[in-house]
Amino acid sequence: MASKKVCIVGASGKLGRYVIQHALDRGYEVVGVCRAESVPKLDDFRDRITVYPGRTNDRDVIKNAVAGCDGVLTVLAPWGVEDYASGTAQAVLDFAEPDSRLIFSCGWHITKDGKDQYSWLFLTLLKVIGKIVRLLRLVDIDDQVEACRRIFASDRLWTVVRGSDLEEGESEGLPVWSEHVGDPILKSNLTRRIDFALFMVAALENDELIHQAPAIVGRNSASAREHGPDAAGNASGEG
Ligand SMILES: NC(=O)c1ccc[n+]([C@@H]2O[C@H](COP(=O)([O-])OP(=O)(O)OC[C@H]3O[C@@H](n4cnc5c(N)ncnc54)[C@H](OP(=O)(O)O)[C@@H]3O)[C@@H](O)[C@H]2O)c1
Repeated sequence: MASKKVCIVGASGKLGRYVIQHALDRGYEVVGVCRAESVPKLDDFRDRITVYPGRTNDRDVIKNAVAGCDGVLTVLAPWGVEDYASGTAQAVLDFAEPDSRLIFSCGWHITKDGKDQYSWLFLTLLKVIGKIVRLLRLVDIDDQVEACRRIFASDRLWTVVRGSDLEEGESEGLPVWSEHVGDPILKSNLTRRIDFALFMVAALENDELIHQAPAIVGRNSASAREHGPDAAGNASGEG
């Protein structure tokens, strides 16, 4: 049987490169989309993946890249103030194959049902930093919110993986997750970036995550050890 094919949109970033490695490790045929100037960042994978250079909100580039793919893994980055994230998400929603699994990355600040509970500090920092970076025309967090609103409204087979604060380091294994920020299992608010990518790739084959927006945390973090699946007498929170 031919191997399954996945497209990684935003492949050249830190998260995207981990996603590539996990996808290759699992035997997927990989195509990637990244800005033309970032193609050299994929040199390590040059002989093993097909690269479509272009901005991730370029609809023609996305249309070509996702053709024939069983899954699309998209790094949603709110760069600039030209609807980059929402344009990227819309292109993927419009052109991915009908039955393909669509996995998107974002942060905890995205809420699917409004039931997440954020600390006062988190909300204040989000508001203040969001305003500053928008004024500098660097980042538009509201556009990432809009991107996710469109995904949540779609009947495509999507999963939006919401990352905690991230750190580098060796893999600790599949992160644990919860439906809502504020749940005790997430309290540590730290995940290895390599494991964020692992969760996204594993989600391709996990139908329980369809139409879910799991908020993840490292499985070796204190809150995961206290409240997660490995805690005594607890079977919840497995990703
Ligand atoms: N950083 C965190 O602490 C954190 C926490 C929670 C969730 N997340 C989520 O994790 C995902 C990855 O975030 P990351 O911080 O780890 O970054 P990352 O993986 O390095 O990804 C950044 C992406 O943005 C692109 N990019 C950078 N500058 C750009 C520009 N000016 N115009 C267009 N694209 C540009 C990069 O492409 P090039 O390679 O072309 O530059 C890359 O694809 C995001 O979905 C983010 O919301 C991050």
